[in-house]
Amino acid sequence: MSKKIFIKTFGCQMNEYDSNRIFDTVKKIGYNRTNIYEEANCYVLNTCHIRDKAKEKVYHEIGRVKKIFRSKNKPLVIVAGCVAQAENQEMLKREPYIDLVIGPQSYHEINNKILNFIKKKEKSETIEFEADDKFDYLSKIKNEMSEVSSFLTVQEGCDKFCHFCVVPYTRGPEYSRPFQQILDEAKHLVDNGVKEIILLGQNVNAYKHNNYRLSNLILEIEKFSKIERVRYTTSHPKDMSEDLIEVYKHSKKLMPLVHLPIQSGSNKILKLMNRKHLISDYLKIFEKLKIINSKIEFSSDFIIGYPGEEEKDFNDTLDLIKRIKFINSYSFIFSPRPGTAAEDLDLTDKNISASRLEKVQNQLFENQINMHKSLENKILKVLVENLTEDKTQLFGRSEYMTPVIFNSKKADIGKVMLVKIKQSNRTTLFGDVVIDSNQKVA
Ligand code: SAM
Ligand code: SF4
Ligand code: F3S
Repeated sequence: MSKKIFIKTFGCQMNEYDSNRIFDTVKKIGYNRTNIYEEANCYVLNTCHIRDKAKEKVYHEIGRVKKIFRSKNKPLVIVAGCVAQAENQEMLKREPYIDLVIGPQSYHEINNKILNFIKKKEKSETIEFEADDKFDYLSKIKNEMSEVSSFLTVQEGCDKFCHFCVVPYTRGPEYSRPFQQILDEAKHLVDNGVKEIILLGQNVNAYKHNNYRLSNLILEIEKFSKIERVRYTTSHPKDMSEDLIEVYKHSKKLMPLVHLPIQSGSNKILKLMNRKHLISDYLKIFEKLKIINSKIEFSSDFIIGYPGEEEKDFNDTLDLIKRIKFINSYSFIFSPRPGTAAEDLDLTDKNISASRLEKVQNQLFENQINMHKSLENKILKVLVENLTEDKTQLFGRSEYMTPVIFNSKKADIGKVMLVKIKQSNRTTLFGDVVIDSNQKVA
């Protein structure tokens, strides 16, 4: 009987990348992937610890798996990801249904751990921060992603220690992969048919290997003629170096959407968060990039109700959102994280935070709706990713990552098409492929 693995992923794109790499790894010991719980003889939960009741969600999900397998053979149950790193042995003690706990820098150990468990029924947790070993190992196993748009992790971990954030504790210190190793992986992705590469890191613009920076990676990757688009995420304003800003002048394939989280529009709050930059620094980056290319747009992450946030600080955030006209952004109420500097601070009143979040989201939605309205009757370049779920139309993304749904043929998947936008809503653009390629592109 063939062995089947079910991998459930919570959290950021780096976890998605990791889940795919876990699959590339366990294939070597005979596992095929399944999307059906009941078929699995190995179940991996790749967890996220960034906010809310992350730990409880994990136990809840394991409870679900237990129920599903009540009358079947128990699968091998592995908890991976950031909660695994933070909780390690505690998980094995609290939930005997879990067999293995593996932190995000130890995936290269997964096959040995699985084989060992099958042989000796020995439970274990593995949580070393050995990013070097992990990527050395992974570089020998091909990245089999072949989605039109695929992720490529170039950097992991973080040394910034923002007071609210758990990442430095779950992903360990900042680590940049060797330049050539990344290019080799990119080449393999191109050979698989990938058209867009999204370079990933918890602090991707801090990438540094010997004298190579993120800007060198972007320029090198866009040399692959079959690559249509390059993106990177997530960045920190402090690492928005001159060479990276300059790349927007020279690059032909770097997309004009800059995801640069600011968290708050108030200098007071940025200081309390230990963000290590001012609003004015952010505005300088914004202005420099707008001068280089006025079509560049910004997206961001916001934390609402951070301890100490007063009405004035909150209004500064709203003003900044109106000024920059952020699109495609994320906003969350502050969630205290165990082990971080902000863990025990006095919380902002729940109702006040909820009402501020609503105001911020309404403003962000308004920006988004206006941006999409302004694109109606314009012609956009769309990278076609797939058929829609009902298989009647095509799905792609604009240069700003906005989903676009339009009529065309399946053979267009993987191509950049010109699409005339007919209609829009807050999240999506709808249009038709343009036959007349002389029409002006927005
Ligand atoms: N490195 C990126 C930066 O510095 O902006 C952020 C990466 S973090 C994985 C993604 C986002 O999660 C953050 O930008 C922040 O908005 C949000 N986040 C992190 N910790 C949080 C917390 N304790 N409560 C609420 N949101 C949080
Ligand atoms: Fe977390 Fe980003 Fe701050 Fe690092 S820079 S601690 S990943 S929010
Ligand atoms: Fe979550 Fe870990 Fe990513 S905490 S956001 S999965 S780095």
